[in-house]
Amino acid sequence: MKDRILRLQDTALGELAALAGKDLDAWRVKYLGKKGELSQALRSMGSLSAEERPLVGQVANTVRAELEAAYAIRLAEWEVAKERAQEAEETIDITLPGRTPRVGAEHPLAKIIRRIEDVFVGFGFTVEEGPEVEWDYYNFEALNLPKDHPARDMQDTFYLSEELLMRTHTSPVQARTMEKRRPEWPIRIIVPGRVYRRDDDDATHSHAFTQIEGLVVGQGVRMSDLKGTLLTFARVLFGEDQEIRLRPSFFPFTEPSAEMDIRCIYCGGAGCSTCKHTGWIEVLGCGMVHPRVLEMGGYDPEEVTGFAFGMGVERIAMLLYKIEDIRQFYQNDLRLIRQFAAQAD
Ligand code: FA5
Ligand code: MG
Repeated sequence: MKDRILRLQDTALGELAALAGKDLDAWRVKYLGKKGELSQALRSMGSLSAEERPLVGQVANTVRAELEAAYAIRLAEWEVAKERAQEAEETIDITLPGRTPRVGAEHPLAKIIRRIEDVFVGFGFTVEEGPEVEWDYYNFEALNLPKDHPARDMQDTFYLSEELLMRTHTSPVQARTMEKRRPEWPIRIIVPGRVYRRDDDDATHSHAFTQIEGLVVGQGVRMSDLKGTLLTFARVLFGEDQEIRLRPSFFPFTEPSAEMDIRCIYCGGAGCSTCKHTGWIEVLGCGMVHPRVLEMGGYDPEEVTGFAFGMGVERIAMLLYKIEDIRQFYQNDLRLIRQFAAQAD
């Protein structure tokens, strides 16, 4: 009986050494299970004598303990081996080229607004904003454009009611700011924002576009301050040799009024298709704030004077970035926008 158990042990251990996975479990059932070979051997102990029984029992228990220990060791070995195999399979091949993450790009309009803001903030201006849905009063009347004034025709727009409209320029923020700040000066602000007009869309016109307004109010502000500010601005943006010229013009809210042209940045003044062979490109309207506008804003034109300007941002961005059709700004074509991803200012 004792020999039978010892033989069983030898056979069991011999088999175990090479087993893995499900076979391990089968082995455990076969030798250590309730109906396993060891249990069967012990069940036949009834036929043994009273002296033999405890001896054989002891041997059987030792064998069971040894088989259980051997099983635990083999199981652990196999699990480690399995993990190693998995790791080997999962190893990352560091020779593969990496995947470049897609980096977003600033829209060319956002970029140019930021650049222009930076220039004027450097001059000591602050940035203001105003509503796109505007009262007739601020868009026209407070800017010396009473109802039925013929100059209103130049800026026809979308009306929401008799008194409420989509603003046609950023100039209403001039009136709003004076009203808010009076009686204090100096005022030195720029106002970026979207404006709307009943214009037909073409390569250089859009029914919705972007302007940046500028307003300075203070004691002794002169036309030469306007010219110096705009010249410096043009030189920061277009290069230190950039020339400008002020051409007399008309706006009801400035007097005198002017349009500022820059020397054509493509042909240097020789004449090309961009400047329509004039050598100059118009970039903004400007002038000295009309005394009536100062008065309506709550300031005494005997005490303070001011200058103002308003530029079309798309037109400037088109010049700087050589974009030929204004509609490209609004089409969300990633091929356009991605060109600005890696580009520095
Ligand atoms: C004005 O809007 C005045 N408020 C500017 C001003 C401000 C003058 C302060 C004096 C003092 P104007 O209508 O010319 O002016 O428009 C200014 C600029 O906006 C133009 O020079 C042009 O660059 C741009 N612009 C005008 N209409 C359009 C349009 N439909 N699409 C794109 N840009 C336009
Ligand atoms: Mg104009």
